[in-house]
Amino acid sequence: MATSNVQLVIFGGTGDLTTRMLMPSLLGLFDTGKLANFAVLILSNRNFTDDDYREFIRPFLRRSTKPDIPGFLQHIFYQTMDVTKATDYTAAATKSHEIDKKFDLGGNRIFYFAVAPRLFSPIIASLPDSGFLARPGYKRVVIEKPFGQDYPSAKALNEQLNHLFHEDQIFRIDHYLEKRMVQNIMLTRFGNGLTEGIWNSHFIDNVQVTLSETVGLENRAGYYDQMGATRDMVQNHIFQLISLLAMDQPISLRQGDVTEAKVAALRMLKTPDLQLINQQFVLGQYLGNQQEPAYLDEERIPKTSRTETFVAGELNFNSYRWDGVPFYFRTGKRLATKTTRIDVVFKAPQLKLFEEHHQVIDHLAPNILTILIDPDEGLSMQLNTRDSDEETFGSTNAILANTQPATGFETPEAYESLLSDIIDGNTENFPQWREIAVAWQFIDALRAGWQKTSPIIHQYLLGSMGPEQADKLLTRTGRYWAFDPTK
Ligand code: BG6
Repeated sequence: MATSNVQLVIFGGTGDLTTRMLMPSLLGLFDTGKLANFAVLILSNRNFTDDDYREFIRPFLRRSTKPDIPGFLQHIFYQTMDVTKATDYTAAATKSHEIDKKFDLGGNRIFYFAVAPRLFSPIIASLPDSGFLARPGYKRVVIEKPFGQDYPSAKALNEQLNHLFHEDQIFRIDHYLEKRMVQNIMLTRFGNGLTEGIWNSHFIDNVQVTLSETVGLENRAGYYDQMGATRDMVQNHIFQLISLLAMDQPISLRQGDVTEAKVAALRMLKTPDLQLINQQFVLGQYLGNQQEPAYLDEERIPKTSRTETFVAGELNFNSYRWDGVPFYFRTGKRLATKTTRIDVVFKAPQLKLFEEHHQVIDHLAPNILTILIDPDEGLSMQLNTRDSDEETFGSTNAILANTQPATGFETPEAYESLLSDIIDGNTENFPQWREIAVAWQFIDALRAGWQKTSPIIHQYLLGSMGPEQADKLLTRTGRYWAFDPTK
């Protein structure tokens, strides 16, 4: 349970993250009483007073309940600031101290970097002389993803942070780790003999991870065009999911042990082979329709951009457990549906018994364990059964557990529990440096391969599930995506 007596100092208070995620989540924590004695100091370059900012943010503060919005807004303060100007930090820190005194917050501060990643480093460099880090009180720092743009920049950022903060004061965000069904993967795997006993290449044919989105750039053209889907979604969210799915059982549930198991799994990934890279990875860019622009026609996107808004790939492990089991992933913008799910496809049994019974054999489908993450949560298993009329055979989806909407009105959103963890000082659901490092090393190797081979950026229809080459990724070995909302 989060407690209070804390000041959140948010660098970058007028951007998408703060307006769409942080402030509504803070309101949620306030509304449920988890946040009582607290203050938020927003630092941004717009020329606002406290009251201007309160008016600016008000339209974003929507909840299903009827929260006390005027009460909440009394805790919100604003200071105009250019984060690249060292002198602005002193004024901001002075205001922060005044707020601290007013609410009697004991000097506890959480610095939240909700700014473009290029500003992380100048902000960290300015903190020591600003007075912001003055004792007493705890100091924590929250770094939004992406943590670096590649391994060298991530390493430099990490070293810079380590000069000021201990590992347990650093919260590197991957909001996927706060999703309920992501947190459920370890229990689903290691808490059930049924699953753990068959979680290997003897029984599993392939694993599929889908993070599809219907949204486009959402005012983030500059950032997105620089990063692309691989660095925006794969290096962090998809690699987190894959490491949880592929790892061996950790020695304990302690964060260090879980991290070790995840890192060991990722280190067993086969580095992309230049000969195969364009068969194993597919890049795409969305086309437009009458209402919506194509990626290359979006504002602030260069007409010659080769940034991928879709990526699918096949990952293979150098491990006994996963010998010959491809892990497929795909993610993209402007796809048919907003869905995050994992499909674990099992090998077919020996079907000799039904050999002469075409009405049966033609309808048999593989068993698929589906972990639904968003917008529905739950577990289901595709099983072959015979209908009660005894005439028809086919596969049905047996709901195993937990099915419910992920973002129901009373369900805390991922950012709410994330903020709650940070306020509690609980780093468990935040990736540690070693996980981030090994993921970047793989992505760097992949991108270096792309640089050498200059892959085609396939165009795909808005509302599709990406370019058809992403289907071929599987069909060339007789497999197919278990989830296809377009059919
Ligand atoms: C963010 C990406 O990390 O995750 C966004 O930067 C993406 O581009 C978002 O839209 C998706 O998160 P979720 O929780 O909606 O799947």
